[in-house]
Amino acid sequence: MDDIYYKEREATRYDLEYRWKTDDIPFWQGLTQEYAGREGVALELACGTLRVTYPVAESGVRVHGLDHSPWMLTEAQKRLAKAPASIRERVTLHQGDMRAFDLVQQFDIVYLPFNTLLIMRTTEDQLALFDSVRRHLKPGGVFAFDLFVPDLTRIANQARPAVWANEQDEALSEGGVRVQRDSLTRYDTLRQRILVKFRHREYVNGVFQHEFISDLQLTYIFPRELEHLIARAGFEIVDYWGDYNRTDFWSMQEPWKQILVVRPKEQLQ
Ligand SMILES: C[S@@+](CC[C@H](N)C(=O)[O-])C[C@H]1O[C@@H](n2cnc3c(N)ncnc32)[C@H](O)[C@@H]1O
Repeated sequence: MDDIYYKEREATRYDLEYRWKTDDIPFWQGLTQEYAGREGVALELACGTLRVTYPVAESGVRVHGLDHSPWMLTEAQKRLAKAPASIRERVTLHQGDMRAFDLVQQFDIVYLPFNTLLIMRTTEDQLALFDSVRRHLKPGGVFAFDLFVPDLTRIANQARPAVWANEQDEALSEGGVRVQRDSLTRYDTLRQRILVKFRHREYVNGVFQHEFISDLQLTYIFPRELEHLIARAGFEIVDYWGDYNRTDFWSMQEPWKQILVVRPKEQLQ
């Protein structure tokens, strides 16, 4: 469990800290409806506290969620416990590592939101993930994920001293609690790693209570590299979009997202 970033401290604050992140929700609802509909079934990898899974279920799709972190899954279970029966019936949760899992079931769509493919930092881990996904796809099924486009300006600036940047500062409606999250980002350009320190500070009625720091490591992936990874994993690109409105990636001047739908190559023969 040592390699799990999302432990209890991160998990219990996740929903508050990521309340701002809603721009991708209609996209994942639309895509899962398209591939799974009301008859089929979807699988969200690294589902966390159900930020995306829940609204997908609300839109009528039956969805399974898999996550490595028992703490994130505990938060997910708490949320489901308060949900209407119609939502609870549509959501099934599993604990597992997305590099190696076996749910003894296949899905119409497997999806991995919010840059989380980038947690797979080595080529071996990335290929293991694609292999696990392939075993869980029904014939005709697809794998979808989104990644940010690496920012060359930020990478080039990494020689300068890193500074804390405010990421999020939000008041909680109940109890006057405010959580502030700052980040300090460094790039290891040789290993193609992003090393982020998150500083979480909590205030109650304006009075500072405590802080803690957590470290997250990601990789970053360029478009050409992604094409090679997908081909090497034995998949083929169905769609490559640059935003959540499904704009073709290659038609955009400065896309900031890489959003892909891929499927195992053998299906195309
Ligand atoms: C950025 S959060 C995303 C959660 C959720 N999908 C969302 O969009 O809010 C990343 C999630 O990946 C999970 N995770 C990290 N490594 C994993 C692995 N090897 N297998 C499964 N889940 C993993 C973490 O526990 C965490 O819940």
